[in-house]
Amino acid sequence: MTAAPLIDPFARAITYLRVSVTDRCDFRCVYCMSENMTFLPKKELLTLEELDRMCTTFIGLGVKKLRITGGEPLVRRDIMTFFQRMSRHLDSGALQELTLTTNGSQLARFADDLFAAGVRRVNISLDTLDDAKFAEITRWGRLKQVLEGIDAAQAAGLQVKINAVALKGFNEDELFTLQDWCASRDMGLTFIEVMPMGDLGNENRLTQYWSLKDLRARLAERFTLVDLSERTGGPARYVQLAETGQKIGFITPLTHNFCESCNRVRLTCTGELYMCLGQEDMADLRAPLRASGDDAQLAQAIRAAIARKPKGHDFDYSRATVDGQMTRHMSHTGG
Ligand code: GTP
Ligand code: 5AD
Ligand code: SF4
Repeated sequence: MTAAPLIDPFARAITYLRVSVTDRCDFRCVYCMSENMTFLPKKELLTLEELDRMCTTFIGLGVKKLRITGGEPLVRRDIMTFFQRMSRHLDSGALQELTLTTNGSQLARFADDLFAAGVRRVNISLDTLDDAKFAEITRWGRLKQVLEGIDAAQAAGLQVKINAVALKGFNEDELFTLQDWCASRDMGLTFIEVMPMGDLGNENRLTQYWSLKDLRARLAERFTLVDLSERTGGPARYVQLAETGQKIGFITPLTHNFCESCNRVRLTCTGELYMCLGQEDMADLRAPLRASGDDAQLAQAIRAAIARKPKGHDFDYSRATVDGQMTRHMSHTGG
């Protein structure tokens, strides 16, 4: 890399790009989407070639970690071609990690191809191991299909990390079931606090919210928790269970703000760049991308956007109300 790195106004280096390649999904998780979503017309989307140019420009500006998200990234048509193209940046050493966050439903089909493209780790969203509860929380999902996807991922040699949103009265009783299941399969496990994203019409994040402070205390009733300093470049903080060696991650936007070490921005499938998951401001990168074949203009627009990166989100439930809410659904930016 010869260009100056991307540094935001708070002296944070931006080295992690999350790219939502589609706003569509084959599930309708209650905290992520409403049941009747209107999706973007396909003609609005960046083509795979444009996504390639966009990501390549970011990599030229010092991005080392690329995470493909959605919606559900694996429902985007021909997405394996995109992964295959991105693998050239792993080969050159410019990119350290190419990875994805998925609901797991399509992994039985794609796990081998992902591994062949250089993907080594996948984060799979799974909140419960109970068939009926899974159907309830995802509205359209089937647990069996996801479990088959997880099997396929592991068989292909991919390291799996399970992401579970901590939900009051929903998966509280499965804390140790999930922990034990992940340990038995040698998979990572990270819990996430539910964030106030999306049209909250008939949803109430406050009644869904289970703080990870409480979850952690419950874990500590059975295990000795040792805080680890290691990081994966994401917002999770990890503990190790002294008795078993298992590592568990916590993503705590509500009880502990991690924004001071934020290193990431997110690109949507239409080329909007969100500098923060918890703020409305975004920059249109599609216009400069399409205005000229010269990547310098795009790079300039990226730098101008990074110069506006805010300090952090304003999510807050501490006054017994939901503060800092985003009307945008999580599926718009991929978390
Ligand atoms: P690792 O590389 O395994 O550390 O993954 P990651 O945590 O970077 O990515 P993943 O997609 O698994 O992220 C899990 C969830 O963390 C996301 O879906 C979001 O809900 C949340 N998250 C990630 N980045 C941010 C962020 O910058 N702000 C907030 N508030 N939440 C974030
Ligand atoms: N709060 C916290 N996490 C969420 N996710 C989706 N919506 C929310 C929300 N409102 C998680 C999913 C998945 C990742 C993409 O984001 O469960 O792990
Ligand atoms: Fe789809 Fe993931 Fe959102 Fe669920 S959380 S609706 S699986 S994008």
